[in-house]
Amino acid sequence: MAPRSHRLSSRRAPPRFFFVILLLLLPVLIFVIFTNGRKISYFFRPLWDNPPPPFQHLPHYYAENVSMGHLCRLHGWSPRSEPRRVFDGIIFSNELDMLDLRWRELHPFVTKFVILEANTTFTGKPKPLFYAANRNRFAFAEGKIVHGVFPGRVASRGSREDPFILESQQRGAMNGLLRRAGISNGDMLIMSDTDEIPSPHTVKLLQWCDGVPPVLHLELRNYMYSFEFPVDYSSWRATIHIYDHWTQYRHSRQADLILSDAGWHCSFCFRHLREFVFKMTAYSHADRVRRKDFMRHSRIQKLICGGEDLFDMLPEEYSFRELIKKMGPIPHSASAVHLPAYLIENAEKFKFLLPGGCLRS
Ligand SMILES: *[C@@H]1O[C@H](CO)[C@@H](O)[C@H](O)[C@H]1NC(C)=O
Ligand SMILES: *[C@@H]1O[C@H](CO)[C@@H](O)[C@H](O)[C@H]1NC(C)=O
Repeated sequence: MAPRSHRLSSRRAPPRFFFVILLLLLPVLIFVIFTNGRKISYFFRPLWDNPPPPFQHLPHYYAENVSMGHLCRLHGWSPRSEPRRVFDGIIFSNELDMLDLRWRELHPFVTKFVILEANTTFTGKPKPLFYAANRNRFAFAEGKIVHGVFPGRVASRGSREDPFILESQQRGAMNGLLRRAGISNGDMLIMSDTDEIPSPHTVKLLQWCDGVPPVLHLELRNYMYSFEFPVDYSSWRATIHIYDHWTQYRHSRQADLILSDAGWHCSFCFRHLREFVFKMTAYSHADRVRRKDFMRHSRIQKLICGGEDLFDMLPEEYSFRELIKKMGPIPHSASAVHLPAYLIENAEKFKFLLPGGCLRS
């Protein structure tokens, strides 16, 4: 009897052993999934999400000193006898330095700078009117500026407004502000965020040529934190419209055509660490701030200089190949060529946007 039971228990031993291991591992596994769930789901995005339909890329021709007539014809368009009026519509949050660069670049070509700012964030927290408070910095454009304030609703304590609803209400308010600014049929309208800056020669081309598609996306070079960290060419949300009564202010996919290499998109390109913190909690993806220590200045500073992600996220990619290519920090670039002219002319003032300038105050 005894040897048999001995044999039995030794045969039962392995399952019990594995059961104990499993019992120990399960909480660890649950903890890892709980704390990294989003990262895990981003890693498997190629399995659960489809890429947006591909764009049709319009080749973009430009070199200094080539005549406008020739440039228009290279694009299959024809030169106009006078330029279109240009309206630049942005919904402003707190990107004061980007606004400065943007308006300095576009000033010679733009008829009206239409800027809407809300007194709450997209998440329903009261917010200072950063533009209104710094208006004197933009005196160079006075006379062209049409400023509107969107009265936001403050979320009740403990709750949060749906950022995407508030964002869409603000885009609606923008339509009214554009009409108040005097936009009319045939004018050119730029719809983009403050930090999506079309290059001056792009705006000039589109304003001087007939035959430009009525809705055209702009492909912008993507940068993170400064022009020292070029990410890719994938920024596509900015558009230009030949305005008509049906035009609605939007910031989403609106057409299949995209004009290649048409400017710059510099995300989180802030001078002060407190501006990073503000943007991280205020913008539409505030839900990505999962832990309080995400906002520690020393942490943010370290991530900026390393070209690493503020939210500890993986890139949004639709194939494993792209995802793996983009994982890890953004490599530094030492090039400050083909950047906004005002930035280069005032390199000292905008040191934080240039190679070697990652330290913030
Ligand atoms: C380029 O522009 C400069 C000044 O605007 C002019 O003197 C020069 O002839 C131009 N060069 C060409 C090749 O057109
Ligand atoms: C925002 O502006 C509106 C209209 O001026 C005002 O009624 C509201 O109290 C303001 N909200 C905050 C948070 O300042």
